Amino acid sequence: MITKKTLKQIEKFAESRFAKNKDSAHNMDHVKRVRDLAIHLSQGEAADTDVILAACYLHDVGGDAELNDPSGNTDHAVESAKIAKPFLEKLKIPQSKIDHILDCILSHRYRTEHKPKTLEAMIVFDADKLETVGAIGVARAFSWVGKNQAYIYKVEDIKKYSEKNMGGKANGRIRDKSKHSPQLNWETKDKHILSFLYTQKAKNIAKRRKKFSEKFFQELEAEILGRK
Ligand SMILES: [Fe+2]
Ligand SMILES: [Fe+2]
Repeated sequence: MITKKTLKQIEKFAESRFAKNKDSAHNMDHVKRVRDLAIHLSQGEAADTDVILAACYLHDVGGDAELNDPSGNTDHAVESAKIAKPFLEKLKIPQSKIDHILDCILSHRYRTEHKPKTLEAMIVFDADKLETVGAIGVARAFSWVGKNQAYIYKVEDIKKYSEKNMGGKANGRIRDKSKHSPQLNWETKDKHILSFLYTQKAKNIAKRRKKFSEKFFQELEAEILGRK
């Protein structure tokens, strides 16, 4: 068990890591939304909510390292785990829980080969991915555009684009973020959300949110192509 006091310390640590953060899509507000969604997903499940809470707080603390690396080689899940490890080891948390929290952090990313294997890791992953669809998904996608000086709208031959800028894999890293757009992200990844979520509860939420995103991207395309 992780005491309430320790969980508060973990939350405060995350807050301090995000204090100077300039990425509106990956800040403490995002962390709190992911936490609340994860708690919702874990209700009625035999899940270790202490592990889930700690992992939610820490899952993006290494976000800056990826953001500041234009090469696209830095993986913020790996960086977050690196930052979380020594911090967690200073707290009185059993080693098995620390290992589990680190595993949840490492596997929260879609663009990685490190996949969630435990219920807790699946819940953290699903809660984080629900942030990519619906109204919040659209809002975050365009905040990402501003941050990366990417396109508001750009559509290309998806197969060719994926090969050129994402290594030809659905979960490939984006090589040049400035060539990306929310529409391309939607086409290559987010619209397939139902195929990569793990929990039924998250899939039910995603179904509703996905309809909103679909409508938004259709509307955006129609306006930009001058059809209305
Ligand atoms: Fe993340
Ligand atoms: Fe996240």
